[in-house]
Amino acid sequence: MKHLSSTLTIPNVSSVPRHVAIIMDGNGRWATKRFMPRVAGHGKGVESVRTIVEACVARGIEYLTLFAFSSENWRRPADEVSLLMRLFVTALEREVSKMHANGIRLKVVGDLSRFDIKLQKLIVDAQRRTADNRRLTVTVCANYGGRWDIMQAVNKMIAANPGASDFSEEQLVPYLSMAYAPEPDLFIRTGGEERISNFLLWQLAYTELYFTETYWPDFDAAELDRAIESYQQRERRFGRTSEQLIEQKKAS
Ligand code: IPE
Ligand code: IPE
Ligand code: MG
Repeated sequence: MKHLSSTLTIPNVSSVPRHVAIIMDGNGRWATKRFMPRVAGHGKGVESVRTIVEACVARGIEYLTLFAFSSENWRRPADEVSLLMRLFVTALEREVSKMHANGIRLKVVGDLSRFDIKLQKLIVDAQRRTADNRRLTVTVCANYGGRWDIMQAVNKMIAANPGASDFSEEQLVPYLSMAYAPEPDLFIRTGGEERISNFLLWQLAYTELYFTETYWPDFDAAELDRAIESYQQRERRFGRTSEQLIEQKKAS
């Protein structure tokens, strides 16, 4: 199914968000506060991923997108980067069968060419194995950057249309790395920072933003429900007036 762009068509809005996108931040501070090494926070963060994936299935959310490693996270100390890579490998080795059994489709988006071959192979296999599942699509953004995404899409679009110019939004969108998903309804960032950090720049155009002080390792189903409750209080106008929305409701 082709998903509509929020700037070209007004999307249908349901009370449960169809697509939730999360910046899982605060692992390091969670650990430091407990006098533990930062990497212990990342380990604990994997448990939160498991909890939130299950909670999304239970709530009928169709797409969950998780920012796991940004294109700028290579700037971290080498030992932290290599531990994050190892965690990614073990999580894939341990979790994919269970995800598949639960009807979950796994997608990994980002510039995967920089990962070692073993990890790349695990990613390809996991995606292939779960490709036909539709209960929940979990997208892990790894070595992902919003600017990278837009640029790779532009380059692919130009390559597919040699000699052409003056492209439209509609022509670009199919090349974005998450073209298979609707744009996120709800964005959550844990850990207290109120910024996008080069996450889904294009796709967040009309997404509702929710920020919480809670560190990612402490983020649980109750916290997710708080974010959804906040989302349900929002009036998603997509450029229209409040009065127009009231009229529309009356008419339907
Ligand atoms: C998020 O937690 C995980 C990754 C970026 C991989 P952080 O590691 O950024 O934790 P803080 O922000 O330093 O607490
Ligand atoms: C964003 O968190 C990236 C991920 C959670 C994967 P960061 O901790 O890297 O973001 P900044 O550096 O605080 O903006
Ligand atoms: Mg951080």
